[in-house]
Amino acid sequence: MRRLKLNALIEEQDIFELVEPTTALSDVVLNKKTQQTLENLMRQVDKEVIGRLVDWGIKDKKSGIDARIIFYGAAGTGKTMTAYSLAKSLKRQVLAFDCSKILSMYVGESEKNVRKIFDTFYDLCEKTKSEPILLLNEADQFLSSRSSGISSSADQMHNQMQNIFLEQIEKFKGMLIATTNLLENIDKAFSRRFNYKIEFKKPDQTQRLELWGKMLPKEAPYEEGFDAKELATYALTGGQIHLIIKNTAYKVAVRETPIFSVKDFIDEISREKDASFDNEKSMGFLNK
Ligand SMILES: Nc1ncnc2c1ncn2[C@@H]1O[C@H](COP(=O)(O)OP(=O)(O)OP(=O)(O)O)[C@@H](O)[C@H]1O
Ligand SMILES: [Mg+2]
Repeated sequence: MRRLKLNALIEEQDIFELVEPTTALSDVVLNKKTQQTLENLMRQVDKEVIGRLVDWGIKDKKSGIDARIIFYGAAGTGKTMTAYSLAKSLKRQVLAFDCSKILSMYVGESEKNVRKIFDTFYDLCEKTKSEPILLLNEADQFLSSRSSGISSSADQMHNQMQNIFLEQIEKFKGMLIATTNLLENIDKAFSRRFNYKIEFKKPDQTQRLELWGKMLPKEAPYEEGFDAKELATYALTGGQIHLIIKNTAYKVAVRETPIFSVKDFIDEISREKDASFDNEKSMGFLNK
Protein backbone atom coordinates (compact mmCIF):
# COMPACT_ATOMS: atom_id res chain seq x y z
CA MET A 1 0.00 0.00 0.00
CA ARG A 2 2.67 2.46 1.08
CA ARG A 3 4.89 1.49 -1.79
CA LEU A 4 2.18 2.09 -4.30
CA LYS A 5 1.74 5.55 -2.94
CA LEU A 6 5.38 6.50 -3.31
CA ASN A 7 5.41 4.95 -6.76
CA ALA A 8 2.49 7.15 -7.72
CA LEU A 9 3.79 10.33 -6.15
CA ILE A 10 7.16 9.99 -7.80
CA GLU A 11 5.54 10.79 -11.13
CA GLU A 12 4.65 14.26 -9.93
CA GLN A 13 8.21 15.48 -9.53
CA ASP A 14 11.37 15.35 -11.61
CA ILE A 15 14.00 15.53 -8.90
CA PHE A 16 14.21 11.96 -7.69
CA GLU A 17 14.29 8.57 -9.21
CA LEU A 18 12.59 5.89 -7.14
CA VAL A 19 14.63 2.71 -6.92
CA GLU A 20 13.41 -0.65 -5.69
CA PRO A 21 16.68 -2.35 -4.90
CA THR A 22 17.19 -5.80 -6.34
CA THR A 23 20.76 -6.66 -5.38
CA ALA A 24 21.74 -7.91 -1.92
CA LEU A 25 24.83 -7.10 0.08
CA SER A 26 26.03 -10.64 -0.63
CA ASP A 27 26.17 -9.76 -4.34
CA VAL A 28 28.75 -7.05 -3.71
CA VAL A 29 32.43 -8.02 -3.66
CA LEU A 30 34.33 -5.84 -1.20
CA ASN A 31 37.53 -5.90 0.76
CA LYS A 32 37.43 -7.01 4.41
CA LYS A 33 37.66 -3.56 5.91
CA THR A 34 34.85 -2.05 3.84
CA GLN A 35 32.74 -5.10 4.53
CA GLN A 36 33.30 -4.86 8.25
CA THR A 37 32.42 -1.17 8.33
CA LEU A 38 29.22 -1.92 6.46
CA GLU A 39 28.34 -4.72 8.85
CA ASN A 40 28.95 -2.36 11.73
CA LEU A 41 26.68 0.19 10.15
CA MET A 42 23.98 -2.43 9.60
CA ARG A 43 24.13 -3.38 13.27
CA GLN A 44 23.77 0.21 14.39
CA VAL A 45 20.70 0.83 12.31
CA ASP A 46 19.19 -2.48 13.38
CA LYS A 47 15.68 -1.95 14.74
CA GLU A 48 16.44 -3.98 17.87
CA VAL A 49 19.53 -1.94 18.65
CA ILE A 50 17.61 1.28 18.09
CA GLY A 51 14.86 -0.07 20.38
CA ARG A 52 17.37 -0.63 23.16
CA LEU A 53 18.74 2.88 22.83
CA VAL A 54 15.22 4.28 23.02
CA ASP A 55 14.47 2.15 26.10
CA TRP A 56 17.61 3.44 27.76
CA GLY A 57 16.56 7.00 27.06
CA ILE A 58 19.62 7.62 24.90
CA LYS A 59 17.65 8.04 21.73
CA ASP A 60 14.51 10.01 21.04
CA LYS A 61 11.48 7.78 20.51
CA LYS A 62 10.11 9.74 17.61
CA SER A 63 13.19 9.89 15.51
CA GLY A 64 13.84 6.85 13.38
CA ILE A 65 17.16 5.61 12.16
CA ASP A 66 19.59 8.44 11.56
CA ALA A 67 22.73 7.89 9.55
CA ARG A 68 24.70 10.15 7.28
CA ILE A 69 27.06 8.18 5.15
CA ILE A 70 29.67 8.92 2.52
CA PHE A 71 30.80 6.22 0.10
CA TYR A 72 34.00 7.36 -1.55
CA GLY A 73 36.35 5.78 -4.08
CA ALA A 74 37.19 5.33 -7.75
CA ALA A 75 34.55 4.97 -10.47
CA GLY A 76 33.03 1.53 -10.90
CA THR A 77 34.00 0.20 -7.47
CA GLY A 78 30.40 -0.51 -6.46
CA LYS A 79 29.36 2.53 -4.43
CA THR A 80 25.93 2.95 -5.99
CA MET A 81 25.31 -0.78 -6.05
CA THR A 82 26.20 -1.06 -2.37
CA ALA A 83 23.83 1.79 -1.49
CA TYR A 84 21.00 -0.08 -3.21
CA SER A 85 21.98 -3.37 -1.62
CA LEU A 86 22.07 -1.78 1.82
CA ALA A 87 18.58 -0.42 1.22
CA LYS A 88 17.37 -3.88 0.28
CA SER A 89 18.77 -5.35 3.49
CA LEU A 90 16.97 -2.64 5.45
CA LYS A 91 13.79 -3.20 3.41
CA ARG A 92 13.75 0.40 2.30
CA GLN A 93 13.16 2.08 -1.00
CA VAL A 94 15.66 4.58 -2.37
CA LEU A 95 15.06 8.09 -3.60
CA ALA A 96 18.08 8.80 -5.75
CA PHE A 97 19.23 12.23 -6.83
CA ASP A 98 21.86 12.68 -9.50
CA CYS A 99 23.91 15.60 -8.17
CA SER A 100 25.35 16.50 -11.56
CA LYS A 101 21.87 17.89 -12.27
CA ILE A 102 22.55 20.80 -9.93
CA LEU A 103 25.21 22.12 -12.31
CA SER A 104 22.83 22.17 -15.23
CA MET A 105 20.30 24.17 -13.25
CA TYR A 106 20.57 27.94 -13.42
CA VAL A 107 23.64 28.84 -11.35
CA GLY A 108 22.14 31.68 -9.35
CA GLU A 109 19.37 29.39 -8.28
CA SER A 110 21.47 26.52 -7.07
CA GLU A 111 20.99 27.34 -3.38
CA LYS A 112 17.27 27.25 -3.92
CA ASN A 113 17.67 23.98 -5.77
CA VAL A 114 19.54 22.41 -2.88
CA ARG A 115 16.71 23.33 -0.52
CA LYS A 116 14.24 21.96 -3.03
CA ILE A 117 15.95 18.56 -3.04
CA PHE A 118 15.55 18.22 0.70
CA ASP A 119 12.06 19.76 0.87
CA THR A 120 10.83 17.42 -1.82
CA PHE A 121 12.37 14.50 0.00
CA TYR A 122 10.65 15.36 3.31
CA ASP A 123 7.43 16.02 1.49
CA LEU A 124 7.49 12.59 -0.16
CA CYS A 125 8.33 10.90 3.16
CA GLU A 126 5.52 12.73 4.92
CA LYS A 127 2.89 12.05 2.31
CA THR A 128 3.72 8.37 2.01
CA LYS A 129 4.57 7.85 5.70
CA SER A 130 7.57 5.89 4.53
CA GLU A 131 11.28 6.23 5.21
CA PRO A 132 13.16 5.87 1.96
CA ILE A 133 16.92 6.26 1.92
CA LEU A 134 18.09 9.50 0.33
CA LEU A 135 20.85 8.70 -2.14
CA LEU A 136 22.91 11.61 -3.45
CA ASN A 137 24.84 10.12 -6.34
CA GLU A 138 28.09 11.73 -7.51
CA ALA A 139 27.99 14.37 -4.80
CA ASP A 140 31.53 15.61 -5.60
CA GLN A 141 30.57 19.22 -6.07
CA PHE A 142 28.72 19.29 -2.76
CA LEU A 143 31.52 17.73 -0.79
CA SER A 144 34.64 19.22 -2.37
CA SER A 145 36.83 21.62 -0.39
CA ARG A 146 35.32 25.06 -0.23
CA SER A 147 37.55 27.79 -1.54
CA SER A 148 38.64 30.45 0.91
CA GLY A 149 40.10 33.91 0.49
CA ILE A 150 39.59 36.03 -2.60
CA SER A 151 37.56 34.15 -5.14
CA SER A 152 35.50 34.67 -8.23
CA SER A 153 31.78 35.21 -8.02
CA ALA A 154 31.25 31.72 -9.38
CA ASP A 155 33.31 30.38 -6.48
CA GLN A 156 31.32 32.43 -4.02
CA MET A 157 28.12 31.11 -5.43
CA HIS A 158 29.46 27.60 -5.17
CA ASN A 159 30.44 28.20 -1.55
CA GLN A 160 26.97 29.48 -0.81
CA MET A 161 25.43 26.41 -2.32
CA GLN A 162 27.72 24.22 -0.24
CA ASN A 163 26.81 26.13 2.90
CA ILE A 164 23.15 25.44 2.30
CA PHE A 165 23.98 21.81 1.73
CA LEU A 166 25.93 21.74 4.98
CA GLU A 167 23.00 23.26 6.82
CA GLN A 168 20.66 20.66 5.37
CA ILE A 169 22.98 17.82 6.27
CA GLU A 170 23.26 19.13 9.81
CA LYS A 171 19.54 18.91 10.45
CA PHE A 172 18.86 15.90 8.28
CA LYS A 173 16.63 13.25 9.81
CA GLY A 174 16.77 9.82 8.30
CA MET A 175 19.29 7.88 6.31
CA LEU A 176 21.36 9.60 3.70
CA ILE A 177 24.09 8.18 1.51
CA ALA A 178 26.28 10.43 -0.61
CA THR A 179 28.62 8.84 -3.16
CA THR A 180 31.72 10.57 -4.50
CA ASN A 181 34.94 9.93 -6.40
CA LEU A 182 36.76 12.41 -4.21
CA LEU A 183 39.44 10.93 -2.02
CA GLU A 184 41.41 13.69 -0.39
CA ASN A 185 39.39 16.75 -1.18
CA ILE A 186 36.33 16.18 0.95
CA ASP A 187 35.75 19.38 2.89
CA LYS A 188 36.45 18.95 6.61
CA ALA A 189 33.18 20.57 7.62
CA PHE A 190 31.29 17.93 5.66
CA SER A 191 33.51 15.16 6.78
CA ARG A 192 32.63 15.92 10.39
CA ARG A 193 28.92 15.89 9.77
CA PHE A 194 28.83 12.43 8.25
CA ASN A 195 29.00 9.66 10.78
CA TYR A 196 30.23 7.06 8.33
CA LYS A 197 32.85 7.51 5.66
CA ILE A 198 33.38 4.29 3.83
CA GLU A 199 36.15 3.82 1.32
CA PHE A 200 35.68 1.71 -1.79
CA LYS A 201 38.96 0.37 -3.11
CA LYS A 202 39.69 -1.11 -6.49
CA PRO A 203 39.47 -4.90 -6.26
CA ASP A 204 42.61 -7.00 -5.93
CA GLN A 205 43.14 -10.16 -7.98
CA THR A 206 41.25 -12.42 -5.59
CA GLN A 207 38.29 -10.06 -5.55
CA ARG A 208 38.42 -9.73 -9.33
CA LEU A 209 38.21 -13.51 -9.68
CA GLU A 210 35.16 -13.42 -7.44
CA LEU A 211 33.67 -10.61 -9.54
CA TRP A 212 34.18 -12.54 -12.77
CA GLY A 213 32.68 -15.61 -11.10
CA LYS A 214 29.60 -13.73 -9.98
CA MET A 215 29.09 -11.79 -13.18
CA LEU A 216 29.79 -14.31 -15.95
CA PRO A 217 26.46 -15.61 -17.27
CA LYS A 218 25.63 -18.93 -15.65
CA GLU A 219 23.52 -20.35 -18.44
CA ALA A 220 25.98 -19.71 -21.26
CA PRO A 221 28.17 -22.18 -23.20
CA TYR A 222 31.91 -21.86 -22.54
CA GLU A 223 34.85 -23.39 -24.38
CA GLU A 224 36.33 -26.49 -22.83
CA GLY A 225 38.69 -25.68 -19.99
CA PHE A 226 37.45 -22.09 -19.72
CA ASP A 227 39.04 -20.52 -16.66
CA ALA A 228 38.48 -16.96 -15.44
CA LYS A 229 41.84 -16.97 -13.62
CA GLU A 230 43.61 -15.32 -16.50
CA LEU A 231 40.89 -12.67 -16.80
CA ALA A 232 41.32 -11.82 -13.13
CA THR A 233 44.95 -10.84 -13.77
CA TYR A 234 43.76 -7.70 -15.56
CA ALA A 235 43.43 -4.76 -13.20
CA LEU A 236 39.80 -3.90 -13.81
CA THR A 237 37.11 -2.52 -11.54
CA GLY A 238 33.77 -4.27 -11.06
CA GLY A 239 32.19 -1.68 -13.32
CA GLN A 240 34.68 -2.42 -16.09
CA ILE A 241 34.21 -6.17 -15.75
CA HIS A 242 30.47 -5.65 -15.94
CA LEU A 243 30.85 -3.68 -19.17
CA ILE A 244 33.31 -6.11 -20.75
CA ILE A 245 31.06 -9.08 -20.05
CA LYS A 246 28.14 -7.29 -21.61
CA ASN A 247 30.06 -6.28 -24.72
CA THR A 248 31.54 -9.76 -25.13
CA ALA A 249 28.09 -11.33 -24.79
CA TYR A 250 26.74 -9.13 -27.57
CA LYS A 251 29.64 -10.16 -29.77
CA VAL A 252 29.32 -13.88 -29.07
CA ALA A 253 25.51 -13.99 -29.26
CA VAL A 254 25.46 -13.25 -33.00
CA ARG A 255 27.79 -16.11 -33.86
CA GLU A 256 26.56 -19.28 -35.43
CA THR A 257 28.15 -21.26 -32.62
CA PRO A 258 27.86 -18.92 -29.68
CA ILE A 259 30.54 -20.23 -27.31
CA PHE A 260 32.52 -17.98 -24.97
CA SER A 261 36.28 -18.29 -25.00
CA VAL A 262 38.84 -16.61 -22.73
CA LYS A 263 40.22 -14.92 -25.84
CA ASP A 264 36.84 -13.31 -26.56
CA PHE A 265 37.05 -11.53 -23.23
CA ILE A 266 40.69 -10.58 -23.59
CA ASP A 267 39.98 -9.09 -27.03
CA GLU A 268 37.23 -7.04 -25.50
CA ILE A 269 39.50 -5.96 -22.64
CA SER A 270 42.09 -4.62 -25.10
CA ARG A 271 39.41 -2.97 -27.21
CA GLU A 272 38.15 -1.20 -24.14
CA LYS A 273 41.66 -0.18 -23.31
CA ASP A 274 42.25 1.25 -26.78
CA ALA A 275 38.93 3.06 -26.82
CA SER A 276 39.57 4.61 -23.46
CA PHE A 277 40.78 8.19 -23.42
CA ASP A 278 41.03 8.10 -19.68
CA ASN A 279 44.70 7.76 -18.88
CA GLU A 280 44.33 6.29 -15.48
CA LYS A 281 41.83 3.79 -16.78
CA SER A 282 44.04 2.54 -19.56
CA MET A 283 46.99 2.26 -17.21
CA GLY A 284 44.76 0.14 -15.02
CA PHE A 285 44.29 -2.27 -17.86
CA LEU A 286 48.01 -2.63 -18.40
CA ASN A 287 48.75 -3.16 -14.72
CA LYS A 288 48.60 -6.88 -14.81
N1 LIG B 1 32.28 -4.30 -5.69
C1 LIG B 1 31.44 -4.76 -6.61
N2 LIG B 1 30.79 -5.94 -6.43
C2 LIG B 1 29.94 -6.40 -7.35
N3 LIG B 1 29.66 -5.76 -8.51
C3 LIG B 1 30.26 -4.59 -8.75
C4 LIG B 1 31.18 -4.02 -7.81
N4 LIG B 1 31.64 -2.87 -8.30
C5 LIG B 1 31.03 -2.68 -9.47
N5 LIG B 1 30.20 -3.71 -9.76
C6 LIG B 1 29.40 -3.84 -11.00
O1 LIG B 1 29.58 -2.66 -11.76
C7 LIG B 1 28.38 -1.91 -11.88
C8 LIG B 1 28.68 -0.44 -11.67
O2 LIG B 1 29.03 -0.23 -10.31
P1 LIG B 1 28.54 1.07 -9.50
O3 LIG B 1 27.66 1.89 -10.36
O4 LIG B 1 28.00 0.64 -8.20
O5 LIG B 1 29.92 1.82 -9.31
P2 LIG B 1 30.19 3.24 -8.63
O6 LIG B 1 31.27 3.03 -7.63
O7 LIG B 1 28.90 3.81 -8.16
O8 LIG B 1 30.78 4.05 -9.85
P3 LIG B 1 30.70 5.64 -10.16
O9 LIG B 1 31.68 6.29 -9.25
O10 LIG B 1 31.10 5.72 -11.60
O11 LIG B 1 29.28 6.07 -9.91
C9 LIG B 1 27.45 -2.49 -10.85
O12 LIG B 1 26.11 -2.40 -11.25
C10 LIG B 1 27.92 -3.93 -10.75
O13 LIG B 1 27.36 -4.70 -11.78
MG1 LIG C 1 27.79 5.54 -8.72
